[in-house]
Amino acid sequence: MATPILGEEFDRSSATDDLRSLHRKSLAILKRLQSHALDPETGEKAGPTFPISKAAELVDRTASAIREAERDGRLPERGRTASGHRLPYGLRELDNMRKVFGTLPWRDEDDMPAIISVSNFKGGVGKSTIAVHLAQHFAIKGYRTLLVDCDSQASSTMMFGYRPDIDLGENDTLYGHFHDPELLGVRSIVRNTHFHGLNLIPSNLKLYNLEYEIAAHLAQTRSFDIIDVISQAISEVDQDYDVVILDPPPALGMVSMAVLQAANAMVIPMPPSVIDFSSTVTFMDMARTTMEQLELLGGRARPAYNFVRIVASRVDENKSMHKELLAMMRDVFGGSMLNSIMPTSAEIDNASSRLKTVFELERPVTSRDVHMRCLRYLNAVCEEIEADVVASWKSRAGEGDA
Ligand SMILES: Nc1ncnc2c1ncn2[C@@H]1O[C@H](COP(=O)(O)OP(=O)(O)O)[C@@H](O)[C@H]1O
Ligand SMILES: [Mg+2]
Repeated sequence: MATPILGEEFDRSSATDDLRSLHRKSLAILKRLQSHALDPETGEKAGPTFPISKAAELVDRTASAIREAERDGRLPERGRTASGHRLPYGLRELDNMRKVFGTLPWRDEDDMPAIISVSNFKGGVGKSTIAVHLAQHFAIKGYRTLLVDCDSQASSTMMFGYRPDIDLGENDTLYGHFHDPELLGVRSIVRNTHFHGLNLIPSNLKLYNLEYEIAAHLAQTRSFDIIDVISQAISEVDQDYDVVILDPPPALGMVSMAVLQAANAMVIPMPPSVIDFSSTVTFMDMARTTMEQLELLGGRARPAYNFVRIVASRVDENKSMHKELLAMMRDVFGGSMLNSIMPTSAEIDNASSRLKTVFELERPVTSRDVHMRCLRYLNAVCEEIEADVVASWKSRAGEGDA
């Protein structure tokens, strides 16, 4: 092919045509991947189900208490499989059991809903992975949960069965709310998900415009109130929830700042590698100074976070440097670090390439051992954060002290 010479006529559209064609082909792949994550019978994403023993554990009663309640009509009779076993229970059934047994873990009306941002300005540290698993953990445990995808790359949104830029418009995200709050109201962008008890405010690429629009608004009005845009949005609906999880973008931008302002607790995923460690240190310092500036300019002190916890993420215990850094982190951060860690696991990789979380896998993708090990770590991380949340509720004062 001849190289075009400046000024000479040549086909300028070919490069964009190439990209357009690649984009079209990629969409076809995305569609195929998305369909793998769907239930072949219903064509939709299916929520998790549990055998009676696990259901009993999750509703804090025994299996025989469930059987008895089904016999005496307090709970609906459960259908049977062909082999005569009770059909597994979904989250809706668990919720009903908790209502009947009086074991709902909901906060008291006077307790503040936990608004947790899973923050780090670095990308790829496991923010979205932890945010989605955490949100699903809370829903499985019976808490009323909202996950807010604040990242225009929308990886959390994809885990809920959406192709963000095809299935969703700009009015379906926080951007739509910002653009026309009068018209929409936040409630109209909150969606149910395949996890009963877990709602989602989705995101797509349009949310990126929020960066510019907040900046433009700041320049125009010289008022920093705009940084409360996400905080205000959440305050419209947070009374409906026990836990709100925010998944921010991997950048030091306006949206990240707005997320830090909106949260009342923070989880910081930090891989124990030198580069990630050093950028997380920078993140902490920048987040602090920016928040101080905002306080100064806004003339009001921001309430303290209920908890800030570092979670060592993507840990590879076979790497001696990871082990060394992890030990140093424990030494320096002490109680600010979760005891549990989130190791790098092939099971997370495998689940996410099926657009599923590990909680959604019906069977191990790797081996049973790797799967169970991964689940144990995930559960331990989520349970520690759950304990922090419960400890922030006055109505639960003293719980877990034993
Ligand atoms: N503990 C882990 N083990 C294996 N893969 C992981 C783990 N945590 C995250 N990943 C993978 O790394 C990639 C980036 O993770 P993600 O959670 O999207 O990071 P972030 O939101 O911080 O950018 C994803 O493909 C995810 O599946
Ligand atoms: Mg992310």
